[in-house]
Amino acid sequence: MEKLVISGPTPLKGEVEISGAKNAAVAIIPATILINGVCTIENLPHISDVKLYCEILEHLGAKVKWIGKNTVEIDSRNIHSTTAPLDITRKFRASYYLIGALLGRCGRAEVGSPGGCNLGPRPIDQHIKGFEALGAKVKVGGGSITATCDKLKANSIYLDIVSVGATMNIMIASVLAEGTTTIDNAAKEPHVVDLANFLNTMGADIRGAGTDIIRINGVKELKGNATYSVVPDQIEAGTFMLSAIASKGDILVKNCITKHLEPVIAKILEIGGNVEADEENVHVWWSKRTTKANIKTLPYPGFPTDLQPQMGVCLAISSGTSIINESIWNSRFQYTEELNKMGAKITSSGQQAVFDGVEFLYGAPVYATDLRAGAALIMAGIAANGTTEIYNLNHIDRGYENIEEKFRKLGAKIERVTED
Ligand code: EPU
Repeated sequence: MEKLVISGPTPLKGEVEISGAKNAAVAIIPATILINGVCTIENLPHISDVKLYCEILEHLGAKVKWIGKNTVEIDSRNIHSTTAPLDITRKFRASYYLIGALLGRCGRAEVGSPGGCNLGPRPIDQHIKGFEALGAKVKVGGGSITATCDKLKANSIYLDIVSVGATMNIMIASVLAEGTTTIDNAAKEPHVVDLANFLNTMGADIRGAGTDIIRINGVKELKGNATYSVVPDQIEAGTFMLSAIASKGDILVKNCITKHLEPVIAKILEIGGNVEADEENVHVWWSKRTTKANIKTLPYPGFPTDLQPQMGVCLAISSGTSIINESIWNSRFQYTEELNKMGAKITSSGQQAVFDGVEFLYGAPVYATDLRAGAALIMAGIAANGTTEIYNLNHIDRGYENIEEKFRKLGAKIERVTED
C-alpha cells in the first residue's frame, strides 16, 4: 500500500505551472469518438482517469498514440464496438460521457455504471432525460447502462438541476443529431465551454456555451485533422492558491485563467490573504493570520464545490468561526473527520460544517476520502506541526498530475512510500 508522508510545517514558496483540466479532458477524450478522422489533443494531464479513458478508446477500436508528454493523437476512424469494458468504466465517474459519444457515433452504447468519488447519491437522471428527448431508449440495470437509437433527433431539453455532466453529455450526443438541440438551464463551468470549443474546432456548430442556454446545430460529420489544447485546470490552480494561504507561504500560480478563479480570489482576500493577478498568473501570499468567512458552494460562477475541502483547511486554522454550506454534494464533509484527527475543530451535520478556527494543526495518519479531500489533507499536512501520513492515494492520483513533485518544488517535505 502506498502512502504520502509529509513533515511540516513548511511555508510553500515559488512558482507552479498548472496542468490541463481533468474535468475537460475526461469529456474531450470520449468526444473524439464522434470524429471520423484523427485529432491531436495537447495539454492533457497525466492522471489515472485520462489513462483509463485512453485504454477504453483502444478497446472500442480507436488508435491512441502519445506523441509528447501531454499530447495524444487519437484516430477514431475504426470504432468497431459499442460496449465499453464494464470493469474499467465502473472505476470512474466520467465514463458516462461514453454514452453520449457512442450514441452519437454508432446509435448504441453499453457502459458500466459510473464509479468515482463517494460524495453521496450521484444520479444521472438528467443525462438519461436528455438522451430520451433525443430519441434514445435507455435501460439501466445489472450494473450497466444501455442506450440505443436509430438516428438521434434534435429537441429542446430543460435541465431540472444545473448539471455539468448532463450538459456536456447531451452536448456530445446532439452534435451529430438532425436539427437544432437546445439545452436550457445549462451548466456554465469552464470545462463546458472547453468541450464546446473542442467540438467546434472539429466541425461542430455549438453556440452559447458558458451561458445557461446552449444551442447545438447538428452537423453531418466531424472531421478532425486539427489540434486542440485543453484549458488549464481551475481546480488545480485554486488548490495551489489556497495552499499558499494554508502554509503561510508565497506562490506564483502560472498558466491559469484568472477569470475562472474569481470566486476563490474573492474569498482569499476576504479572509485576509493577498492576491495580485494578471490574465494568466496569480500570485498569492500570506502576511498575517487569516480570519473567518462563510462559504456556500454553487455552480459556476459560484464558489466551486471542488475547492470546498481546500478552503476548509484554510478556515480550520483561521481565527473565528466559519460556516460552509455545501449545496452540490450530500457527502462532501467526510474530510472534516480527518482534519479533526489533526487537531481541527469542525462540526459537520448534513450539508453544513462549522469551523472553530485553531492556531495550528498537528500531524496524524489520515485517509483521503475522495479526490479533493486528498488534496486538502496534503495542504493540511504541509501546514501542520509534525508528520502526517495520508492513505488512499488512488483518489488523489485520479485527478492531480505530479502532485507531490509540484508541492516538493515549492519546498514541501513530501514523499511517497510503499508500505507492506
Ligand atoms: N444531479 C442530478 N441528476 C443528474 C446529474 C446531477 O440530480 O442527472 C445532481 C447531482 O447529484 C449533484 C448536482 O446535480 O447534486 C450537480 O451534479 P453535476 O452533474 O454537475 O456533477 P457531475 O457532472 O457528476 C462534475 C465534476 C465533479 C464536480 C461537479 C460539480 C466531472 C467528471 N466531475 O460532476 O468533480 O464536483 O461536476 O461541479 O466533471 C471532482 O473533480 O472532484 C469532482 C467531483
